[in-house]
Amino acid sequence: MRTHYCADVNEEHIGQEVTVAGWVSSRRDHGGLIFIDLRDKDEVIQLVCDPADNVAAHKVAEDVRDQFVLVARGKMRARGEGLENPKLKTGKVEMVVDSLVIENRSKPMPFDLNDEKVNEEIKLKYRYLELRTQKSYDIFKLRSKATIAARNSLDALDFMEVETPIITKSTPEGARDYLVPSRVHSGEFYALPQSPQLFKQLLMVGGFDRYFQIAKCFRDEDLRADRQPEFTQIDVEMSFCDQEDVIKVAEKLINDVFAACGFDISATFKRMAHSEAMEKYGSDKPDMRYDLAMVDVIDIFEKCDNEIFSSIAKTPKKNRIKALKVPKGDEIFSKRQMKGFEEYVRKFGASGLGYFQMKEDGLKGPLAKFFTEEDLQAIIDRCELEVGDAVFFGAGEKKLVLDYMGRFRIYLAEIMDIIPKDVFEFLWVMDFPMFEVEDGRVKALHHPFTQPKSLDYEDIEEIESIAYDIVLNGTELGGGSIRIHKEEMQAEIFKLLGIGEEEAQDKFGFLLDALKFGAPPHGGFALGLDRLIMLMTGASSIREVIAFPKTQKAQCLLTQAPSAVDSEQLKDLSLRIRQQAPTA
Ligand code: AMO
Repeated sequence: MRTHYCADVNEEHIGQEVTVAGWVSSRRDHGGLIFIDLRDKDEVIQLVCDPADNVAAHKVAEDVRDQFVLVARGKMRARGEGLENPKLKTGKVEMVVDSLVIENRSKPMPFDLNDEKVNEEIKLKYRYLELRTQKSYDIFKLRSKATIAARNSLDALDFMEVETPIITKSTPEGARDYLVPSRVHSGEFYALPQSPQLFKQLLMVGGFDRYFQIAKCFRDEDLRADRQPEFTQIDVEMSFCDQEDVIKVAEKLINDVFAACGFDISATFKRMAHSEAMEKYGSDKPDMRYDLAMVDVIDIFEKCDNEIFSSIAKTPKKNRIKALKVPKGDEIFSKRQMKGFEEYVRKFGASGLGYFQMKEDGLKGPLAKFFTEEDLQAIIDRCELEVGDAVFFGAGEKKLVLDYMGRFRIYLAEIMDIIPKDVFEFLWVMDFPMFEVEDGRVKALHHPFTQPKSLDYEDIEEIESIAYDIVLNGTELGGGSIRIHKEEMQAEIFKLLGIGEEEAQDKFGFLLDALKFGAPPHGGFALGLDRLIMLMTGASSIREVIAFPKTQKAQCLLTQAPSAVDSEQLKDLSLRIRQQAPTA
């Protein structure tokens, strides 16, 4: 229908006849002359309908309203002096319309497409209208570029794209499964994959050597700004490799994707052990765009005169006393603000938050009286304090202190506005613990197919695994590991996880079997594609970068999914809905 996209029309076309097609983004009637801004996928062009030039076209233009679909033909001319619009690629020209066809009409918009503050529910209900905005177009154009770049990069590295099943057996990645009832096998269920983890490992046993997939994954978990129930991974697996080989592939892939999208990033990424990340930043995904690292001061506090601190300090294996220096904090924050920070950490279980101010004549603050001059000096030296700085202390059980001090670090960075925009700080977090114990239950921190460094241990939580996460600006972008490729080791790990032989056979018998038939050493990783695009575009929520996302309550407001099904369908599936007791 068109001869040109709007973006391709410029001064070179002055005097030429052009046909464009798109949606009306605005219409202005200047008593006689009608101006229409017509927008196609990514640019706007100005149409002028002058009754003196063409009565018929002007008559049609009188009928035109916002978001009508038009095809317009006419001659391009230069805009008048001072009427140019430097914001548009087409800003120096306009079309004098010869022929105007309304291809379709539109009801008035249910919300203002240019107003970003519109309630999200209404935008999601009419998601296709939001997609019509320039902002959405740019996001999805970038997403497409990134996906194609990932495919090309992995293809160049000799990886083969393979699809793995969607209705399958459960893969444990730490969330609940979405289940699909089987009609043919009544009472039995498929699970949607939380990731292609086990199939990609089986492809290695199948000898494919290097696999990748742009894979849809499904997880029924609590949703947040960076989580969706249905999301996409760039999923990679390779054979006969060690951790360094995998890291090299991931760094090359990420570099290629960022370069294709116009961003220059560091060729290799910083690395940090998981234990260091936890001890210094209270997080396994520290944001490295700013420092604010914690320092251990438990040995100094052991000698202090305060019963609470000194008793916490007596068990340094179980407990932590962490200092968080805020450069110029004493100058930035009032005393009231400093006391107010306590309320913030209390929300995360802290019983209090101590602080010192570094003054000209030494360390001051409510805690100072409990320390000798010598120990105060030791704190100054350990925290490298200068006049004007403030330092905060968290004390108590290790996990709790690391957690709330880590959150406090982020909170401080946000209120102090010290997080640089438009930078990409990547970090490998390495050597994850293999297990964590929660309420007496042993759980795999990564997943149960991860290779432990060794199984000699006193405390099961001290076992390290060959697992690594890729962190970008404080968000977990991806993760991976070297896998177990020996059946005996895999069986041993299931045992440590409290998965009995029968259960292991029932859930993972196919994997244990495959490992008996010459499984090669292998490993890999997966990147969250949605998160990657979210971080690249600076979107405030993952929903902005998914064409048809779900709400925080896992609903699709556009299609009204999930929804009830008719009784015949349920009967086919041998299912009956139990009536919920009415809630009071
Ligand atoms: P993991 O569970 O760490 O690893 O997932 C890899 C990456 O997928 C993204 N991601 C999500 N994105 C949006 N919404 C979600 N609900 C969601 N959950 C995860 C994250 C995450 O870093 N099979 C392993 C990978 C491997 O070992 O090779 C796995 O799935 O960016």
